[in-house]
Amino acid sequence: MVHSAARSAREIRRAVVTGGAGFLGSHLCEQLLARDVEVVCLDNFLTGSPENVVHLMEHPGFRLVRCDVTDYVHVPGPVDLVLHFASPASPLDYLKMPVETLKVGSLGTLHTLGLAKDKGARYVLASTSEVYGDPLVHPQPEDYWGNVNPVGPRGVYDEAKRFSEALVTAYRSSRGIDTGIVRIFNTYGPRMRPDDGRAIPAFIGQALSGRPLTVAGDGSQTRSICYVDDTVRGILELAASPHPGPVNIGNPDELSMLRLAEWIVELTGSSSPIEFIDLPVDDPKVRRPDTTRAEELLAWRPSVPSAEGLRRTVDWFAASRELTARQSG
Ligand SMILES: NC(=O)c1ccc[n+]([C@@H]2O[C@H](COP(=O)([O-])OP(=O)(O)OC[C@H]3O[C@@H](n4cnc5c(N)ncnc54)[C@H](O)[C@@H]3O)[C@@H](O)[C@H]2O)c1
Repeated sequence: MVHSAARSAREIRRAVVTGGAGFLGSHLCEQLLARDVEVVCLDNFLTGSPENVVHLMEHPGFRLVRCDVTDYVHVPGPVDLVLHFASPASPLDYLKMPVETLKVGSLGTLHTLGLAKDKGARYVLASTSEVYGDPLVHPQPEDYWGNVNPVGPRGVYDEAKRFSEALVTAYRSSRGIDTGIVRIFNTYGPRMRPDDGRAIPAFIGQALSGRPLTVAGDGSQTRSICYVDDTVRGILELAASPHPGPVNIGNPDELSMLRLAEWIVELTGSSSPIEFIDLPVDDPKVRRPDTTRAEELLAWRPSVPSAEGLRRTVDWFAASRELTARQSG
């Protein structure tokens, strides 16, 4: 059962995780099962894969259902918690699939809110630090409204999430649904796709294969990176609490992209050089969560230092590359 350090709102025995075969979703499914919560994972494998949850298939409390949540959502039996995590999340993915991204943020959110309403379940939306856009306030607290270009390339993701937040808020105020919104900042760890275009897997893949690490712009733009175990713990704290959010979950440990690339070169012992490439359009210049609300409401703060999280992630990528090489050779 999910217990909260903050005041617990309800007992959670059975949860639905949309996007459960993705990076974050698979870690959520794993952690829920570890806490004796049954899990129904809904995924259409657009950017995720059954491989991410293959180790859970034998667990009696786990069910994987192939389903596109923009079509319809039907789950028989009781449900205490709906975690809506389905959505392309890396810029490479959502730029390739702009309409799918807007549909899962709009129709997918509508359908999953309908499920929570039918079942009387708590609902948690995976929102993102991208709702702050290219921020004019630094670090970003939850009451900052953001600086987003709706017709820029990133608008498909940012506005999908902003619409989702508005819809969740409307279901809370006008339909009485128990909802929570978590604004997740850059999270990394095992089971990220090496080719998903996000900086950490890209740098690690480049470093491990001896290719140049491609840093956008002059590398002075910053990100704050949070290890997946910390992010998942924060999400489950919010799920187990009665709080509506939005709550920022992220590690305030802010570093420049150039420093990150240099760090990964050191950790992998690689001799790869660093190469500078064009900065993507509307790329945020800075990003750091103000986590006061998460600390006060959920007693949550990240505990895995970046040095340790990056080391674990590099080890995981190195081991999976070795496995793939052995299987194909
Ligand atoms: N990873 C991060 O740093 C981060 C940061 C902020 C927010 N988020 C949010 O967390 C969620 C998960 O992100 P992730 O990094 O694990 O991405 P991911 O791409 O690994 O996972 C997303 C999952 O959603 C599934 N999916 C997409 N469209 C679907 C649909 N219509 N129906 C059913 N399943 C569908 C995909 O197949 C995939 O398994 C997303 O909503 C994302 O916006 C992630």
